[in-house]
Parts: sequence; C-alpha cells; structure tokens
Amino acid sequence: MVCFKTLALALGLGLLLEVLPTVASPHVARRELTNRSSCPMATSHLENAVQPKSDPWYLTTPADLDAATPGTIFRARPAPGNLASRVANSSAAYNILFRTTDSQQTATYAVATVFLPQKPLADTTLLSIQLAYDTVDLNQSPSYVMYSYSADQLSDITWALGRGWVVITGDYEGPLASFGAGRMSGSAVLDGVRAVLSSSCGAEFGMPADPGKVRYALWGYSGGGLATEAATELQLKYAPELKFLGAAMGGLTPNATSVIATVNKGLYAAIIPGYLIGSTSQFPDARAYLLSRLKPYGLQSKDLFMSMVETGTEIGIITFAFQDMSSYFIGGFADLDAPIMQRVRESDGQMGTHGVPQMQVFCYKAIHDELSPVADTDALINKYCKMGANILYQRDTVNNHFDEFNSGQPRARSWLIGVLEQGHVQVGCTIQNVTDPYYVFHL
Ligand SMILES: *[C@@H]1O[C@H](CO)[C@@H](O)[C@H](O)[C@H]1NC(C)=O
Ligand SMILES: *[C@@H]1O[C@H](CO)[C@@H](O)[C@H](O)[C@H]1NC(C)=O
Ligand SMILES: *[C@@H]1O[C@H](CO)[C@@H](O)[C@H](O)[C@H]1NC(C)=O
Ligand SMILES: *[C@@H]1O[C@H](CO)[C@@H](O)[C@H](O)[C@H]1NC(C)=O
Repeated sequence: MVCFKTLALALGLGLLLEVLPTVASPHVARRELTNRSSCPMATSHLENAVQPKSDPWYLTTPADLDAATPGTIFRARPAPGNLASRVANSSAAYNILFRTTDSQQTATYAVATVFLPQKPLADTTLLSIQLAYDTVDLNQSPSYVMYSYSADQLSDITWALGRGWVVITGDYEGPLASFGAGRMSGSAVLDGVRAVLSSSCGAEFGMPADPGKVRYALWGYSGGGLATEAATELQLKYAPELKFLGAAMGGLTPNATSVIATVNKGLYAAIIPGYLIGSTSQFPDARAYLLSRLKPYGLQSKDLFMSMVETGTEIGIITFAFQDMSSYFIGGFADLDAPIMQRVRESDGQMGTHGVPQMQVFCYKAIHDELSPVADTDALINKYCKMGANILYQRDTVNNHFDEFNSGQPRARSWLIGVLEQGHVQVGCTIQNVTDPYYVFHL
C-alpha cells in the first residue's frame, strides 16, 4: 500500500527532504455559496502552497454540509503557487472542496485537485487518478505534496493531460487522513467526479452542459487501488447516475486482516499502524478502544505507534521496519479481534462487501505481491465474476508489489485509452497469467 516512489525516497535518502514550499498565510477570498448554479471559485490566487493542517480553506467544515447533496462544491480556488506550470501538459489547476460521505454514512467533505489539459479532446474526457499516498498525516495529502513530486511521480497525470484528458486527483482519505478507510475513500472519489461534472463548476473545468456527453474512468494502484475499488463497489448504490466507462485497479489489498498478517515483522510493518490509525479515524469508539489497548510505556508504546500522524509515512517505514507490531498491544493481535474492531474491518477493511462493479474493470496484480496475498485478489475477482461483472484480470507471474506498479503502468494506460477513446468493451471475465518483468536498477 506504500507508494514505491515514496519508498524509494525513504530508503534512498533516509528522510524525506523538506523541499515543500514555504507556508504562507492564507488570504483566499471567501465567498458564501448563495447560488448553486454558479461556481464558488475564489478570485484571488495564493502565492504559495499551504500545508493542509495550517490551511483554514482546507480545515473549515462548510456550514451547510448536511443540507448539500453529495458532490456539491463549497469552495474552489486556483491551485496555489505554480502547480499548473510545474505539471507538464497542464493549462490550469484548481482545488475543489466538496460534500461527500464518511464511513459511518454521515456528511463530510473532501478536497481534490483538478488539472485541465493544454489541448482538450473534442470529446470531453475525464480521468480520476487515485494516487497511492498512504498516510495518516494530512499534510501528506496529494493536493499539497504534489508540489514536491518529481516528473516521474507526476507521470500518470502528465500522460493523461497529454492525451487531452481532464484529470482529477483527490485527497480521498478525507480531512482525517483515513488511510485504508474504503468507504470514506470510495465516496470521496465518486463525489470528486460528480463535482467536476457539476452544473456549478463544470464550465470552469471544460465540461459540456450535458454531463452525459463526458467520458470518464478511474485508475489507481495499491492505496490508490483501494480507493478506486471502493468507488466501483459503492457506485451503484451511492452514485447511480454516474456512467463510468471503466476502472483500472492494480495491487489490490482486499483483506486488511490478511495484509496485517503478511507485512508484520517485515520492511513494511508501518502499514499496520497506518491502517489501524487511518481506519479508526472514522470510528471514534474504535479509536478509543485502540488507544486503550496500546501499551502506555516502554519501547513499543502507544506514543510511538501514534507518532505517524505527525511524522508521516517515510519516517514510519523506518521506525517500524521489521518490528513485531503485536508487541505494541497489551493482549497482542488478539486485541484486534474485539467486536468493535471487527466492525471497522467489515465496514472498511474487506473488499467485495458493498456492491459489484457495474463498469468494466482492468485488474492487475503480481502473484508474488509481498503485501497482500494474490489469493485474496483471486477470491475477490472470482466473486465479482460469478455476479456478472466484466473484468480483465492479469496475474503477473513475476514482480513484487512495487515493480508491478511500473510493469502494469503501460498495460493500464493502453486499456484506459481503449475504453475512453476507442470504444473498447470487455464482456464477461478474462483471467490471464502474464509474465511482464520490470527490470530496473533500484537505487
Ligand atoms: C445563479 O447564477 C447563474 C449563473 O451565474 C445565473 O444565471 C442565475 O440567474 C443565478 N440565479 C440566482 C437566483 O441568482
Ligand atoms: C505531454 O504530452 C505529450 C503528448 O501530447 C507527451 O508526448 C508527453 O510525454 C507529455 N509529457 C509528459 C511529461 O508526460
Ligand atoms: C481475511 O483474512 C483473514 C486472515 O487471513 C481470514 O481469517 C479471513 O477469513 C479473511 N476474510 C475474508 C472475508 O476472506
Ligand atoms: C495461472 O497459473 C496458476 C498457477 O499459478 C494456475 O493454477 C491457473 O490455472 C493459471 N490460470 C490461467 C488462466 O491460466
């Protein structure tokens, strides 16, 4: 679930270099949303990006949250600083803040970044790219950390823009940085697409008056695959009016319990505190229980476990690598079997329980994925196929989790071109074993 590029930084440099833009005092012109058919776009432009935790624009809960329908845009602004010029093939970049729904079905909001292409296709096309940002630190949300991404890290976005597609990439973990929270993430993805297509700001984003004329699809790998998959599950019930042409999803982690068992004592043991902190941010009673079961003192203490909220993912990977994370709990991992934690897992930690993807799906997965056993993805896809889904599922006989991100990238891109530009239709399920090694000298 950890983005390989983040990881490369963590392992190669030891620390994430502080190359983020300086914090500026926000001076966004605030406008009340009085006319739903017009876009609440700020007219001023912030010179520098602001960390979400220090940004009132990001943190202030809209007053009329409950009354608004999901996807309603409360605030929009030109993305601060020079984001559009940093991101190749982009003509403009915006932040939007819109109504969505959290894991307990209550109204919340999420932020996303919308990029416009320099040469839009005549047939308006929109790709929602879910980046694998995998954090419990809100300041590592894409709308902010993208400012320090390399060209390589931005390459899926710049590729899609280069095809003339509009791109939305969301902070789908929401304002609580709920890493691993499937329902929160999936809802935020769907509502981000609704927001771009909306009658209020659609024109600003190059959308035609009739959203039925737009072609749109989803793409994500690993943590981004989790959000993408959740969106495909929730779509029929939550956003039935959306007509996605497809969803590409790779490196899926269908069963959180089995991920915990797989990564414990390994290099990526940090996924365990990440997932437990992230998912319980949606369930305050479960968070209270979690805190009550973490050891208050010692080398493996509650404070260290919870430190990822401040230190972020890279430090977390280094801090927790090769540790037995069960030692942080008074009763070991048995503490996670409590009904209050099972409820969190049933809601947000198990794929395939909230619906069946209605759009065609391309799924890719390394058989030797070291974070999530391939058997879990096999079971998920088999379940969907029995229920009538249309899926191309490629199981790669080589690669680990991180190499499959790279190896699957060209396959996912050509599949997305097929469905978005060439009318490709996947009928029924096709399951293939492929061998597509990714050879590169890593660090
Ligand atoms: C709302 O905004 C739209 C477009 O800007 C305008 O045409 C419409 O008259 C406005 N409606 C009200 C009630 O102000
Ligand atoms: C920008 O788009 C062009 C195609 O229009 C593409 O060839 C190029 O690779 C894109 N640039 C980046 C950095 O992705
Ligand atoms: C998830 O994985 C755990 C641990 O391997 C297993 O006990 C459980 O049955 C799995 N859940 C589902 C729904 O497959
Ligand atoms: C893929 O390989 C597995 C063995 O790893 C085998 O059991 C399965 O039948 C193969 N599937 C296809 C579609 O060839």
